Amino acid sequence: MPLSFRPLHPLFAAEVSPVDLRTVDAPETLAEIRQGMHEHAVLVFRDQQLDDASQLAFAQRLDGALHSKTGISAMTGNRFGNEALTDISNLDEAGEVLPPDDRRRQYGLANRLWHTDASFVDPPGRYSLLSARAIAPDAPPTEFADMRAAWDGLTPARQALLAPLEAHHSIAYSRQVLGFEFSAEEAEKLKGVVQPLVRTNPVTGRRALYLASHATRILGWSLPEGRLLLLDLMEHATQSRFVYSHQWRNGDLVIWDNLQTMHRARPFDDTRQKRDLRRVTTLAMPPGAASHAAGHTGHPGG
Ligand SMILES: [Fe+2]
Repeated sequence: MPLSFRPLHPLFAAEVSPVDLRTVDAPETLAEIRQGMHEHAVLVFRDQQLDDASQLAFAQRLDGALHSKTGISAMTGNRFGNEALTDISNLDEAGEVLPPDDRRRQYGLANRLWHTDASFVDPPGRYSLLSARAIAPDAPPTEFADMRAAWDGLTPARQALLAPLEAHHSIAYSRQVLGFEFSAEEAEKLKGVVQPLVRTNPVTGRRALYLASHATRILGWSLPEGRLLLLDLMEHATQSRFVYSHQWRNGDLVIWDNLQTMHRARPFDDTRQKRDLRRVTTLAMPPGAASHAAGHTGHPGG
């Protein structure tokens, strides 16, 4: 039976009809989900029973190559033993809440800034698949902004100015903005990459602003002017009319397209309440490039 998509917001995001993603491997069903991602940019699948292996396997069936963290997670440790699985929880290896001053917690706080996952590597992240394994009843939402609608909301003159621009992205920047410090060795690994400021979806033809708190500067512009432009665009793109707020339930798998959206976590009592979310992010490989699944070596990422 074909899947159906129930809109969750006037502009984007949809809840998909019941399906067990552990068993989805028919090419036509995977194609329906990819088409849904092109159109809705955020898809919500309820009541999933994914474990780490089935989450990783589904991400590879959906989109091939996976983003794999190195750097900070290699230095601080990843409790899953697989760098393609990103820990979005607030828990240590023993499953206890991280203390306030734990370096992993301090690093992860930058997920509360608006961003796209893995904009600081080339190829960049495409789909993020975030699985809710343990969510408190009053857990905070995750917010998503539709960057196509944000683009559509600009004047033609503004669009013409922005269309050819490029921005440099580094994950170190979004952390440094909050005062997080890196060693010289860490900083050397986090130099980042240049990305277009505007992207076009190859299937729908819609254009989207490509922004993130990882964006450090606009190429060819002075540092202050570039940063002012980025701040102005972030403010524009995150107006409430462009934002869908996802209220988590246990068993949710939310997939978002990092090339068409931004997102941010919201604060909660994270030094007391347990929260276990696990993320896999695929890479936007160039057409025709061989996908090399979980073996890709990328940079650390949130
Ligand atoms: Fe993120």
